Amino acid sequence: MISGFNQGCMIKPPVTEPLSNILPNEPLLLMGAGPVPISNAVSRANGVVINHLGETMDRVIKNLKIMAAYAYQTKSTKIMGVSGPASASIEMAITNLLWPGRRVLVLKVGTFSGRMGEMAQGVGAEVDYIERSDARPINAEMVEEAFKKKKYDVLTMVQGETSCGVKTVDFAEIVRIAKENGAMVIGDTVCTLTTMPMEMDHWGLDAAISGGQKGLSSIPGVSVIAFSEDAWKFIEKRSVRQPHWCFDALRSQKFWGHQQYHYTAPVPGILALHEALRQICDETLPERFQRHLVSSKALQAGIEAMGLELFIPESYRLNSVVAIKLPDGVDSAKIRKSMVDMFQVEISGAFGLDIVRIGQMGEQCRAHNLFRVLYALGTACVTHGVPLDVSNGMALLEKNLQQPILPN
Ligand SMILES: Cc1ncc(COP(=O)(O)O)c(C=O)c1O
Repeated sequence: MISGFNQGCMIKPPVTEPLSNILPNEPLLLMGAGPVPISNAVSRANGVVINHLGETMDRVIKNLKIMAAYAYQTKSTKIMGVSGPASASIEMAITNLLWPGRRVLVLKVGTFSGRMGEMAQGVGAEVDYIERSDARPINAEMVEEAFKKKKYDVLTMVQGETSCGVKTVDFAEIVRIAKENGAMVIGDTVCTLTTMPMEMDHWGLDAAISGGQKGLSSIPGVSVIAFSEDAWKFIEKRSVRQPHWCFDALRSQKFWGHQQYHYTAPVPGILALHEALRQICDETLPERFQRHLVSSKALQAGIEAMGLELFIPESYRLNSVVAIKLPDGVDSAKIRKSMVDMFQVEISGAFGLDIVRIGQMGEQCRAHNLFRVLYALGTACVTHGVPLDVSNGMALLEKNLQQPILPN
């Protein structure tokens, strides 16, 4: 060894392990609450690195924004990808619309809707909650009451609360009430975007957020946010110092609006998102909503026909992530482990709740994935002594997949 080469290198290299030793031979089928499986086109795009600045990337970004605008149903051009999970995009919405002295009403029904309150506190806003801990949605009347008592600058809410499987049924109505009372609205559509209707302009949302790894069926770690043109005018007039540099929407717009350097963009993730959005546009939203609805309803019918109970009543059940009760005394972790060991299928547990959750987002809503996950769940339960009629469940799944379901 050349003498002196060890200088500044006192720590020896670690023993390494190739990824092939760590990853399973056959990748698990991801049927949990996200991330979800990705298509080949998305996977291929995710393997490519190009310069994040220059003509080729400009074209990608231009397309991506047009396609994301379709997904969000907005004419706004203030759409940007964020190098970070959906939480990073949510943080971008919060930090650009809230600061000390601004008042926010947070509708909290679970982990993710509550997280927006934590973020708002983080930027020094005055935070009030309407909170439900009984896995029921917050409705329009509750919001109306809150606005009678106090004025708010911003309202935050989730369209689908993934943590417990609750849908905000009055979502559009709540946006209307907030706007009538002079508040801007930040909507978390992370698990719902492109799985069910969401009309940003028509409903009047000021910021809408999605993560790559859910309804869009792209990769985790790159998310996408849309600001309304009104919200944008407000952001442009901001006089209070922005505490975040990466999440500063005006700085971000340098890249997303003017093809200039902000930070080095997450190129493979953006290319993957491009392909995921292209597939969504090719499928069209109405077709995609219908595929999700039929798939989720058929799965739900199969689960019930097997003898398991769904956690959320139909009237406010989220179709994008289906929460399932297990019989008393059944250990959810053991069921999930058996599904992995026997069928290479993964579903989710829950944060503190005694349920398991099956995702119905993007590529998860394909017939072959439904048959595999339902059979795996049923068989794993039977293996652990739960008396289920697996065949009946599979039959009902098949029957319901053949019946088109009209949106309600
Ligand atoms: C509704 C909802 N909001 C926000 C998030 C946070 O997403 P991420 O983990 O990508 O930050 C999730 C993730 O599960 C979610 O389901």
